[in-house]
Amino acid sequence: MTQDELKQAVARVARDYVADRLPVGGILGVGTGSTANFFIDEIAAIKDRIGGTVASSEATAKRLQRHGIRVLDLNDVDAMGIYVDGADEIDHGMAMVKGGGGALTREKIVAAVATTFVCICDASKRVAVMGKFPLPVEVIPMARAHVARELVKLGGTPKLREGMVTDNGNLILDVHGLSIADPVGLERQINQVVGVVTNGLFAERGADVLLLATDGGVETCTR
Ligand code: 5RP
Repeated sequence: MTQDELKQAVARVARDYVADRLPVGGILGVGTGSTANFFIDEIAAIKDRIGGTVASSEATAKRLQRHGIRVLDLNDVDAMGIYVDGADEIDHGMAMVKGGGGALTREKIVAAVATTFVCICDASKRVAVMGKFPLPVEVIPMARAHVARELVKLGGTPKLREGMVTDNGNLILDVHGLSIADPVGLERQINQVVGVVTNGLFAERGADVLLLATDGGVETCTR
């Protein structure tokens, strides 16, 4: 199967997961990226049973609205049953690297509100140790150089993502050369650097459920 076929397959299983587990009228968080886009296209078929969605990016909000799916402001939502999103890497402890699409901050906020985080990805994203995919860090523009120096002290090689301004008006530093043996510790350490808005490690709040598309079918893994 091609990678797109795997993404399509996992999106279908995620749609069924939502149809089975989200109470009718419940609120669904929706992630960002190509796998999330397949998922959005799938949930158009069940939009009448979803009370509303919260989007993790402007791009996702637009795609949801094109399907006629209701998009809510997170501040108007008291509880969210399920958040479905992709990942750039996921380890066996269900910690993830995210932010390849630059939406990490809103993704982390939506994930924090959701009861269940369902990660959807193809098998190429499952790794023993994260870090091969450069770790995205969203920074306040005036702090870019300071944060970059601090990330070097942590053992990484930060590179500014050219031409990228996030939905929040900030910049992204992609940190190369990390081998992330302690995802929770590194997530906390980077969060301590003044000028960092969010880093792409989703370890303190990892995935609760992983739907993993393989050539043999979609596997369900839980914490
Ligand atoms: C966007 C993300 C995405 O979930 C991640 O980049 C995976 O994207 P894709 O499904 O296109 O491989 O974190 O900020």
